[in-house]
Amino acid sequence: TWTTETFVEEAIREIRGKVGDKRVLLALSGGVDSSTLAFLLHQAIGDQLTCMFIDQGFMRKYEPEKLVKLFDDRFHISVEYVNARDRFLEQLKGVTDPEEKRKRIGGEFIRVFEEESARLGPFDYLAQGTLYPDVIESADTNVDPKTGERVAVKIKSHHNVGGLPKDLRFKLVEPLRKLFKDEVRKVGRSIGLPEEIVRRHPFPGPGLAIRILGEVTAEKLNILRDADFIVRDEIHKSGVYHDFWQAFAVLLPVRSVGVMGDQRTYAYPVVLRFVSSEDGMTADWSRVPYDLLETISNRIVNEVRGVNRVVYDITSKPPGTIEWE
Ligand code: XMP
Repeated sequence: TWTTETFVEEAIREIRGKVGDKRVLLALSGGVDSSTLAFLLHQAIGDQLTCMFIDQGFMRKYEPEKLVKLFDDRFHISVEYVNARDRFLEQLKGVTDPEEKRKRIGGEFIRVFEEESARLGPFDYLAQGTLYPDVIESADTNVDPKTGERVAVKIKSHHNVGGLPKDLRFKLVEPLRKLFKDEVRKVGRSIGLPEEIVRRHPFPGPGLAIRILGEVTAEKLNILRDADFIVRDEIHKSGVYHDFWQAFAVLLPVRSVGVMGDQRTYAYPVVLRFVSSEDGMTADWSRVPYDLLETISNRIVNEVRGVNRVVYDITSKPPGTIEWE
């Protein structure tokens, strides 16, 4: 029978056999897959592994810091933290179209990835958190997974980018390729990943950038990050985090009139988007207790400057998508 212990042992043996004394690059995203992957590789090959984390500036409040600290403190894995916030923001100047946003973010990701892997490398292998469902469906590699030599033509997982440049072809090491998501979670738990990562809600690669409708600016990122933090804080406090597939805030590019004290305000609305789902393909809007909505709404309006109204999205998928962009 399958156990996490035997899986970990075998994965480590297999990684050592495959990689030998070569160097491996891993791009961390902060999710359970890439975190588990990092742990296994580090156990197997130690310093031959380089973990890189590219901070696009679109993650949730405190998450980049927390990720680097977790790896440092708990796993003694040092992470090459790449602060690329300004460059990504620069790419999004004046961009309002959702697809164009994704394209620009994906393009910039490749450029940063290339530059940083050249700076830190050379590397022989790229570690990818490919899971079994990806293997059976995938068209993202050009060799049969079972025969061994897979070549990356696309950075998977959270990045959603079109493809790696041709001269940047890595051999792949994919120790999670026989696992389903729930098995990765079990392995993650068994190696000491905090529940916060193991059962984290899905978070899109382009992050907060596709939850700010219209142009993404530093100011709007700050507003949304703070509103989003309050949402998570309150659902954690009331113990309902795991009742949702995702629960987050969206910032709209319109303003409406409000009143604060005896002052008229003219500020942005925040949309709360809470859904339940099995796989993200379809979703139902969540019937959230009014009291929770009230607490979140009060806190956002009182604590986040620039927001004077909170609305709740009652659209299921289909016809709505989970994200607003
Ligand atoms: P939609 O909005 O299409 O989302 O109903 C379905 C699921 O996919 C996630 N999502 C993304 N994930 N890059 C990602 O890595 C993206 O560009 C992206 N867009 C949507 C979304 O959060 C939900 O879980």
